[in-house]
Amino acid sequence: MAGRKTPQQAEFPLNRAFTFVESGPVLLISTHHKGKNNLMTVSCHASMGFEPTLGICLGPWNFSYTALIESGACVVAVPPAALMRQVVDIGNCSGETLDKFARFGLTPQCAREVEAPLVAECLYNLECRVVNRTLAEDYNFFVLRGARAWHNPAPEDTRAFHAVGDGTFIIDGEVVNLRHAMTKWQDCI
Ligand SMILES: Cc1cc2nc3c(=O)[nH]c(=O)nc-3n(C[C@H](O)[C@H](O)[C@H](O)COP(=O)(O)O)c2cc1C
Repeated sequence: MAGRKTPQQAEFPLNRAFTFVESGPVLLISTHHKGKNNLMTVSCHASMGFEPTLGICLGPWNFSYTALIESGACVVAVPPAALMRQVVDIGNCSGETLDKFARFGLTPQCAREVEAPLVAECLYNLECRVVNRTLAEDYNFFVLRGARAWHNPAPEDTRAFHAVGDGTFIIDGEVVNLRHAMTKWQDCI
C-alpha cells in the first residue's frame, strides 16, 4: 500500500517460538486412578476435529500420566480466569502426595462415561477417552475423543485464560461475532 512502511521481521529464538501458538485456553485434566482423583494443568494441546477430537501433551514426569495410561480416560476442564492462581498452583505440585481438589477448594462431580470427575467450578467439562497414543513415546501426545460434554450455564466469570508459555497469561477479552461471514461453514456454526 502506498505510503505504508513494510514491517521488518526480526529473528526470534526458535526455542521460544512455541509461544506464538500455545495460547489455547489453559486446561485442567482430571483423572481417577486406584480410588484417587487428581488434577493437573495443561497448556499444550490441540483441537483436532469436531467429534470432538483433541490432542494433549502430557509428560511421564506427571503423576497424572500413569492414571491416563492405565484408566484410558480423563476429563478436560476449562477453568475461568477467576481460578487462574489456583490453576497455576495445581501445575506446581503433585497429586502423589496431595488431594488437589481438597487443597484448592474445587468440587469433584460425578461424570457419566468415565471415572474421572468433572470440576464443578469450571466453565466447561469434557469427558474423554484416549483413542490414540502412538505419539506418546516420542511427543508425550495423546489423542482424546470427547464422550460427553458439560458446561456451567450461568458462570460468574465467563472468561477463559491462555498461557503464553513464559509465565504470562492472557485473559479472554472482546468477543467478535463474524458468523455471517462464515459463508462456507454455515452448517458448522
Ligand atoms: C500453566 C501451566 C501449564 C502446564 N502445561 C503442561 C502441559 O501442557 N503438559 C504437561 O505435561 N505439564 C504441564 N504443566 C505441568 C503440570 O501441570 C505439573 O507437572 C503438575 O504438577 C502435574 O501434576 P501431577 O503430578 O499431580 O499429575 C503445566 C503447568 C503449568 C503451571
